[in-house]
Amino acid sequence: MVPFLDLTRALAPLRAEIDAAIARVVSSGRFLNGPEVEAFEAEFAAYVGVDHCVAVSSGTDALAMALRAHYQNSGSNCSTWTPQTGCPATLAGIFLAQGHPVQGDTYGGGSEFAVPVHLYGRLSDVPPAKAVVEDCAQAIGVPGAGVRHTAAWSFYPTKNLGALGDAGAVTTNDIDVAKRVRALSPYGYGPGRMDEIQAAVLRVKLPHVDRWNSERAAIASHYPDNGLRGPTNHHLYPLFFEKGIGGVEKEFLDAGVQVRRYFNDEICLPCFPGMTDAEVERVAAAAHQILNEPWRRL
Ligand SMILES: Cc1ncc(COP(=O)(O)O)c(C=O)c1O
Repeated sequence: MVPFLDLTRALAPLRAEIDAAIARVVSSGRFLNGPEVEAFEAEFAAYVGVDHCVAVSSGTDALAMALRAHYQNSGSNCSTWTPQTGCPATLAGIFLAQGHPVQGDTYGGGSEFAVPVHLYGRLSDVPPAKAVVEDCAQAIGVPGAGVRHTAAWSFYPTKNLGALGDAGAVTTNDIDVAKRVRALSPYGYGPGRMDEIQAAVLRVKLPHVDRWNSERAAIASHYPDNGLRGPTNHHLYPLFFEKGIGGVEKEFLDAGVQVRRYFNDEICLPCFPGMTDAEVERVAAAAHQILNEPWRRL
């Protein structure tokens, strides 16, 4: 069976380095607010191409803290547009920040704030709201993502840059926003912090993200066209079915391929660094066959 995702494959060649990074933190006796987090913040800001990064405890917290930083002193009811086709965690971030989500297919102009989501790792349009927080949880390594606005990132283990547990970050070019997020982090808003072990592990993995994303692109090039356009890191490779998903999952399983359904009407194919050529071939053959049944074609 081709697994939907196997995180041990990309980790295996880095195992000694990761173990050494963890051992370094354990020996240091500094587990929070230490040099690993500080170094990771500088390295991740440079990777994204922005001035400031505040490492936090998850992508959801990154969204909530970034939004709270923007809502402060706004004096409005914090009406916040986010796309209809998105991810429940985005809404959770808005609720946690005590904002009022307004969902729609496109930005209607009525909301002061907007949280566009780069779903599946594909760059989406950024609406002309007064303040924007990009949900970049799925968009690590996508050219243009999080460059012009405050952005929230997730290092949930399955993300293109994944920690060994929960972790996230807020990036911004606005020093005041960075300061406000930092002020929320240790007090006032939950735990909020990234710990030293996660930062040390992320520092080992960050230099490999672009190579892993290229590997994902090479895998995706064998799969049927799914109609999505624009820059992407192939965080997920969804296929859409006009007539509903029906028995499609079982057909993939019968072909020896584990697939996954997410929040919208899609089936995601295995697409992760470390897949073997034989696995990619098997997924591609099954996908072409299942998708090409005429009554299913989008
Ligand atoms: C689009 C999107 N936004 C937000 C999140 C929340 O990130 P986390 O799970 O790190 O809280 C995720 C991932 O889980 C996500 O995919």
